[in-house]
Amino acid sequence: MCNNIMQIIKADNYRQLAILGANIIADQVKNKPNSILGLATGSSPVGIYEKLVELYQKEHLDFSQVQTVNLDEYCSLSPSNPQSYHYFMEQHLFRHLNIQKENTHIPNGLEADPQKACDDYNQLLESLGSVDLQLLGIGHNGHIGFNEPGEEFTNQTHCVDLSPITIAANARFFEDESLVPRKAYTMGIKSILHAEKILLIAAGEDKAEILKKALQGPITPQVPASILQLHKQVIVLCDQGAYSKLEESL
Ligand code: F6R
Repeated sequence: MCNNIMQIIKADNYRQLAILGANIIADQVKNKPNSILGLATGSSPVGIYEKLVELYQKEHLDFSQVQTVNLDEYCSLSPSNPQSYHYFMEQHLFRHLNIQKENTHIPNGLEADPQKACDDYNQLLESLGSVDLQLLGIGHNGHIGFNEPGEEFTNQTHCVDLSPITIAANARFFEDESLVPRKAYTMGIKSILHAEKILLIAAGEDKAEILKKALQGPITPQVPASILQLHKQVIVLCDQGAYSKLEESL
């Protein structure tokens, strides 16, 4: 655990963050055309996905051999539901690229048996092998994927009860907070850490406090992202706002 490399890149603004993030992913795909990319949803990666689509359209960045695994999906939402992460990925990325549908993987939110949904996803992750580059956002409570703060780090794909803070934060995507699903399937911490390289993105001043806790605070399941301090190769890409509380001690 002593060869950890954590590189922190500060972008001037979100636009630059998106360009830098897309370039990191594009380099991965160019260097290894059959890369396995771990992907996230939420607001933070939207600009990165837009830039990747541009790179595909203008520079023919080739996704034909790429495989993707998403971190999470709400329980009970069908892929055609605009709030589902299946739908999000189609709209923001997959339908614009030459990626093969069968090479894109997201937990099955419609699987009513949580054990089966999780077992199926764990099996899939195992059969694919290591993710080459895992993209992560960070929740205001320090969650990565939907690994919420808790008593311990949960290793593999599991069904979570979303915390009130996550439900409130994600309500902006729904007509009403009462419509936000209370449960989700998420890849576990061990599966996330299994990636060869991790790209953690954070934008906005509202992420500054939690980013500081995650990167410079104690490693604790109360701040799930703090476990990234143990990963061998993490790139943290943040804008000025998210970086602001790190400055004193870096
Ligand atoms: C979503 C995911 C979440 C988000 C996090 C930050 O797939 O993995 O952990 O990355 O909730 O969300 P935003 O980017 O909307 O602030």
